Amino acid sequence: MLLDVKNLSLSYGPKRVLKDISFSLDRGEILCIVGESGSGKSSILLSIIGLIPKHGSISGSIKLEGKELVGLSEIEYAKLRGKQIGMVFQEPSLYLDPLFKVKEQIMEAYTTHFGKSGAENKVVEVLKKVGVQDVERVLNSYPHQLSGGLKQRVCIAIATVCDPSLILADEPTTALDLTVQRKILGLFAKLKEEGKGIILVTHDFGVVAEVADKVLVLKEGEVVESGSVWEIFDSPKHEYTKNLLSATYLKA
Ligand SMILES: Nc1ncnc2c1ncn2[C@@H]1O[C@H](COP(=O)(O)OP(=O)(O)O)[C@@H](O)[C@H]1O
Ligand SMILES: [Mg+2]
Repeated sequence: MLLDVKNLSLSYGPKRVLKDISFSLDRGEILCIVGESGSGKSSILLSIIGLIPKHGSISGSIKLEGKELVGLSEIEYAKLRGKQIGMVFQEPSLYLDPLFKVKEQIMEAYTTHFGKSGAENKVVEVLKKVGVQDVERVLNSYPHQLSGGLKQRVCIAIATVCDPSLILADEPTTALDLTVQRKILGLFAKLKEEGKGIILVTHDFGVVAEVADKVLVLKEGEVVESGSVWEIFDSPKHEYTKNLLSATYLKA
C-alpha cells in the first residue's frame, strides 16, 4: 500500500474541519475526492503534504510507504515534499513565480533534492513527458508568456521532476478550458499508468467518471461515501451523493 490514512482529524480551535477520515491508496490508482466547497477536500491534501497552518491541530495517522507523516518536523517534511509527494494546485498562475523563467523553476524543484548534476537533462526530459512540444521556448519563457494549459503542464513538471510516488492535485483542471482539461486529465492517467498513486480533488463528477478508480465523497469534513467509481455511479448510497451526481448531469 502506498498511502494509508486512518482516523485523520483536523480542527482550527473549536472548528472541526476533518472528522475521522480513513482511506488508502495503492500505486497505479487514482482516488478522486469530491464534495462541496468547504467540505474539507483541500484540507486532506494539505494534511498529507504537511502544509496545515500552525493554528491547526491534526490527529490520526497518515502513512506513506509505511512511514508515519503525522508529527514529522518541518525539516523532515521538507525532505520528502517534492521528492516523495508532488503537489499540483488549482491556479497555476498563483503557484508559479512570475519573476523566474520556467527553466529555473523546474530546475530548483530538482536541485533541492538531487543537486545540480544531471539537472539540465532532467528538466528537458520532464517537460517532454508532460506533453510540451516546443521545449526550448517554454523553458525560456516567463509564466505570463504561457497559456493556462501550458502553465499547468509546467506545474505538473515541477511536481513530478523528482519522480515522487504520490501526487496530490487540488482541482487541477478547474481553471482551464474544457479541451485543455481533457488533455491535462490524460496526463494524470498516464502518470497512473507509470505506477504513481494520485489523489485528485474535484467538484466535477465528469472528471471522476473519466479518471477515477476510487472515490471519496466528503460532506462537512466527514466521509459520507467511499468505494470504486462503479459503485458510486451505479448505486450511490447517500442522498448527498445522488444530489451531487444529478447536479453534474443537469449542468451537462
Ligand atoms: N487556515 C484555516 N484556518 C481556519 N479554517 C480553515 C483554514 N483552512 C480551511 N479552513 C476551513 O476548513 C473548512 C474546509 O476547507 P477546505 O479544506 O479548504 O475545503 P474545500 O477544499 O473542500 O473547499 C472550511 O470551513 C474552511 O473555512
Ligand atoms: Mg479546496
